[in-house]
Amino acid sequence: MRITTPLELTRRQFWRAGGALALAAALPAGGNAASATSAPASLRLTAAPARAPMVGDDHPATAVWAYGGSVPGPVLRVRQGTRLRAVVENRLDEDTTVHWHGIRLPNAMDGVPGLTQPPIRPGGRFTYEFTPPDAGTFWYHPHDNSLVQQGRGLAGALIVEEAEPPRVDRELVWVIQDWRLTRDAQVAPGFGGRMEAAMAGRLGNTVTVNGRVPDAVRVRSGERVRLRVVNAATARIVALRFEGHRPVVVALDGQPCEPHESVGGRLLLGPAMRADVILDMAGKPGSRHAVIDGFYDRLAYELVALAYERAAPLREHTLDAPVRLPPNPLPEPDLASAERHELVLQGGMMGGMGMMGMRGAAWAINGMSMTGKGDMDMLPLLSLARGRTCMLSLRNETAWWHPMHLHGHSFRVLTRNGTAVAGAEWGDTVLVEPRQTVEVAFVADNPGAWMLHCHVMDHEVSGLMGVLRVA
Ligand code: C2O
Ligand code: CU
Ligand code: CU
Repeated sequence: MRITTPLELTRRQFWRAGGALALAAALPAGGNAASATSAPASLRLTAAPARAPMVGDDHPATAVWAYGGSVPGPVLRVRQGTRLRAVVENRLDEDTTVHWHGIRLPNAMDGVPGLTQPPIRPGGRFTYEFTPPDAGTFWYHPHDNSLVQQGRGLAGALIVEEAEPPRVDRELVWVIQDWRLTRDAQVAPGFGGRMEAAMAGRLGNTVTVNGRVPDAVRVRSGERVRLRVVNAATARIVALRFEGHRPVVVALDGQPCEPHESVGGRLLLGPAMRADVILDMAGKPGSRHAVIDGFYDRLAYELVALAYERAAPLREHTLDAPVRLPPNPLPEPDLASAERHELVLQGGMMGGMGMMGMRGAAWAINGMSMTGKGDMDMLPLLSLARGRTCMLSLRNETAWWHPMHLHGHSFRVLTRNGTAVAGAEWGDTVLVEPRQTVEVAFVADNPGAWMLHCHVMDHEVSGLMGVLRVA
């Protein structure tokens, strides 16, 4: 196994399975000399309580649950097609697992307790081993008591590097998390409120980038940056606007897309979704530009600012190099021979189900509510023939947004309310608007039992979850 880590600092931290640094802040461009020096190793990742200085020096550090001692966990980097071996140690006082979100891996490595593996008990270990077939921006998080464990900080970026990445000057990774903090900067109790579960989920009051309420990000006029954004929030949807800039989206959920400017200039990411964007720093030396999250209309706020150094521009004209990413080896859906299925998302406030569904569930898929960690003796929602294309219609009958995620596969997003989606972009999570129907298609080529669920954690654990079986 070979893991490439582009920075000395990163490498040292990597060996120790992460130190106290939020090292995700800045990494040099991929594909340079540094990242060619890869070292074979096993990665160790420990989940344990920690303290994180998130909001600044005039507040106490926040008690969190962390991978490798930091929130988010260390940025893990591996070359496409090389083996990754991760020994996960559980030092929490409850069960956990790690799910490698978006990676098309063997079912036994998927990290779903009771379905693909036994939970990792306190003090226990589990070794994950797989070869990521796709390059791109992925992430890792627990799949046991997800609302609380992810809500207390357990999440990190997993980057699978292309053999030949596009030419950029620098790479940035932004892992976005959302926290509900008390006045003394501690995580507020009360996860799993029934009211919130039936509405938009537990929204926080503090949004961090790489574990900090961010200071301005320093940039240089004329440089080209590849920015990887991971929405690791448990419930918050973000819509990022880069004032004075025109980010070009080159990948969504890790999968390359036709390079394009985002619709309406907003980068819309539901929980669990990722985007790779190319940012040409077109601002003047010394200038400052806000990055605004404007998803919740009247609650727009400045997430972070781009602060230009006073130095003269790095180059006079924008870099004239292609930004398109090499394609991943995804199986192309064959719509003509597809089996078609419909999944209806039901419930929530104003959804007719009230909050009194089966077993305290607030939501259902096709009338079935899988809750908590998943009821593994529940029948699968669908059983799919291995190798066949599945065309899935996700019909949202609820009044709420749902980022719907499928494990073990990536799908093409074909239509929204019957209208073709430009480029039929690939994804592993699709944000379904209230009352919207979205059609996706994928080749069910990965055998096993795979979770399909909403990635608003409150929704997931209160009924918006089920299993697709591929055999
Ligand atoms: Cu990101 Cu079922 O998970
Ligand atoms: Cu997943
Ligand atoms: Cu949802």
